[in-house]
Amino acid sequence: MKKKIFNLLGKIDKFKSDHKEEIENFRIKFLSKKGHITELFDEFKKIPSEEKREVGKILNELKNQASAKIKFLKNNLKNKNVSEEKKIDLSLESTNFFGSRHPVSIIQNEILNIFNRLGFTVSDGPEIEDDWHVFSSLNFPKEHPARDMQDTFFIEKNPDILLRTHTSSVQSRMMENNRPPIRTVSPGRVFRNEAISARSHCIFHQVEGLYIAENVSFADLKQTLLYFAKEFFGEKTEIRLRPSYFPFTEPSAEVDVTCSICEGKGCNVCKYTGWLEILGCGMVDPNVLENCKIDSKKYTGFAFGMGIERIAMTKYQIKDIRLLFENDIRFLKQF
Ligand code: PHE
Repeated sequence: MKKKIFNLLGKIDKFKSDHKEEIENFRIKFLSKKGHITELFDEFKKIPSEEKREVGKILNELKNQASAKIKFLKNNLKNKNVSEEKKIDLSLESTNFFGSRHPVSIIQNEILNIFNRLGFTVSDGPEIEDDWHVFSSLNFPKEHPARDMQDTFFIEKNPDILLRTHTSSVQSRMMENNRPPIRTVSPGRVFRNEAISARSHCIFHQVEGLYIAENVSFADLKQTLLYFAKEFFGEKTEIRLRPSYFPFTEPSAEVDVTCSICEGKGCNVCKYTGWLEILGCGMVDPNVLENCKIDSKKYTGFAFGMGIERIAMTKYQIKDIRLLFENDIRFLKQF
């Protein structure tokens, strides 16, 4: 009988498997009611009592070994399955994205692409800014109303830390940190302390542009904006410039494009004027260049800035700016 037990111990020791069925068969063969080990326990009852002590000990050992082996193999199997489930299938195609691009992103990308084709790089800067980059470097007089609490969200007073009211602050940083020629567009979120209505919001997005080099003229500005308007709104689009005022540009202008909805004939989008106002622009004031340590005798430049929501609302005929911030899936699905 001892020989049989040692024989089985050897078999248990050698047995290896990572298949569920094989492990189950092994259990049946050894531990079930008709299994080898159960049979040996029956046989054990018949052996002479003086042998019982010694044989009983190894027989119990045999049973324990068989159970332990099954437990070990089953555990291995479980771990293997878990790690297989966790494996990433890199061959999977990544075309099935959920959701869609936000209209503000779509318009922003279109604008950046057009200026990219003209050689403008994209620049970025902080949303929380200091007075110098948002106002002082850009030639805002100390008492300018735009610095007022009504327009600006201040985080701290003295020294002034605030939420940027325009991305001109990025242009100021670009001029400080780079030497001409500088040709860059700065997209980003801006903040103004305004009442929220269908036409205006306290948060919106801008793309501002800046070009500084030798001999940059107002004609370059006009041609750049005409190119942009035709690329964005269509080949037939015309632009018109109306004199305006910004502290950081001189001369300054506001730019209208012919309404792309009615092609200038007059409709409710352009309020029957045939024109839509899309941006502000001008020649960079020499004071601004000097504030940013650029020689204003050698270099000139132009700058422009536009609100993305306003353009998106015109293009997609969205009547209420708040829709762009609510992220209602029924609205976003349409783009
Ligand atoms: N920064 C201006 C604004 O926020 C736009 C602008 C940029 C005007 C550059 C002229 C030149 O309204």
